[in-house]
Amino acid sequence: MKPHGGRLVGRVSEKDASGMEELEISDDLANDAENIADGIFSPLEGFLGEADFGAVVSGGRLAGGAAWTVPIVLDLDEQSARRARDAGEVLLRSPGGCRAVMEVSETFEFDKKKLSEGVYGTSDAAHPGVARVQTMKPVLAGGRITLVGRPGGGGLRAHRLTPEQTRAAFEKAGWKSVCAFQTRNPPHVAHEMLQKASIATRDGVFVNPMIGRKKPGDFADSVIVRAYEEMIRCYYPPDRCMLATLHTEMRYAGPKEAVHHAIMRQNYGCTHMIIGRDHAGVGNYYDPFASHRIFDQYPELGIEPVFFPAFFYCRRCLTFTNPRACPHEDSREQISGTRLRELLQAGKAPSEYILRPEVARVIMDSPKPFVE
Ligand code: ADX
Repeated sequence: MKPHGGRLVGRVSEKDASGMEELEISDDLANDAENIADGIFSPLEGFLGEADFGAVVSGGRLAGGAAWTVPIVLDLDEQSARRARDAGEVLLRSPGGCRAVMEVSETFEFDKKKLSEGVYGTSDAAHPGVARVQTMKPVLAGGRITLVGRPGGGGLRAHRLTPEQTRAAFEKAGWKSVCAFQTRNPPHVAHEMLQKASIATRDGVFVNPMIGRKKPGDFADSVIVRAYEEMIRCYYPPDRCMLATLHTEMRYAGPKEAVHHAIMRQNYGCTHMIIGRDHAGVGNYYDPFASHRIFDQYPELGIEPVFFPAFFYCRRCLTFTNPRACPHEDSREQISGTRLRELLQAGKAPSEYILRPEVARVIMDSPKPFVE
């Protein structure tokens, strides 16, 4: 599978950055700098400049026309923006130990309302993506990134892979068709069913949880990773499933984020991408199947979306199923991350129709299963 834009970006070097003007950035921004350098965001070579930013927000494409729906930007306060502009080239450093050189080609102001409406479809501050936009600093800096130092390994980075590594792993496994699964939750049984339905006719599933900033009440990253390790160990043939983490923020942008998710997985080398009910949604902001329909606007994407209706357990069919296959509206046990969080927060152990017992144990044994 060709990367989005035709070429995998690789911008990692041993370049000497000593004596360079330095700017401290958050670990979230550092993750995205690293993602740019590793080609996860191909064809982006840096943080977006003004023309690309405007085109992405208003039209879901880069200025040159390539599909791109979530702006990858570096926000700075006015003083740092001035320093960056004057220096021309700066070393971005994060508390976690990421070091990236940025060729600052431009700095510009932006309209937060336009950004919110363009990407999230709303400017309601109760939407977690919009709330995040409102905390952004006022100036954006665009320019190419070269990664010169990575954070130390281990911990949550133990499962982090670059597109070069995933592509090599798929080839080694002999997988020609690879179905990607995006998630921000520990696996409930509907997630498992989507993955297993997909690999019934494909070589393997690439389970790719998102690690990074999430809204309060979402599951903690460490719980998501441990829950997946446990589910794969107990319920998957070892040669049909690969687990790797994607270190970037959840944006909760529903349909726009679904396309963004698919592009990143194309860059990892996947041929297919699972898009289920209310993909990347939050609250009632998006129609549960808007994330399916948006792909009509991007027929040129290399990766093929695999759309699923809502899965649930039916007490009469005695199986996990969906409205296309089951007529028993009164016998359904609905399964969703929100339902799961509600049960767990009320101290109730979810039934096996929702969660595998091994996964439930990981969550219930965790002292802090939720983001605070
Ligand atoms: S997301 O924000 O990453 O989309 P989540 O981890 O819950 O949230 O979902 C991962 C994937 O599973 C998404 O494609 C989502 O649409 C799908 N999904 C989650 N629950 C269900 C369900 N009950 N039926 C069908 N698809 C589902």
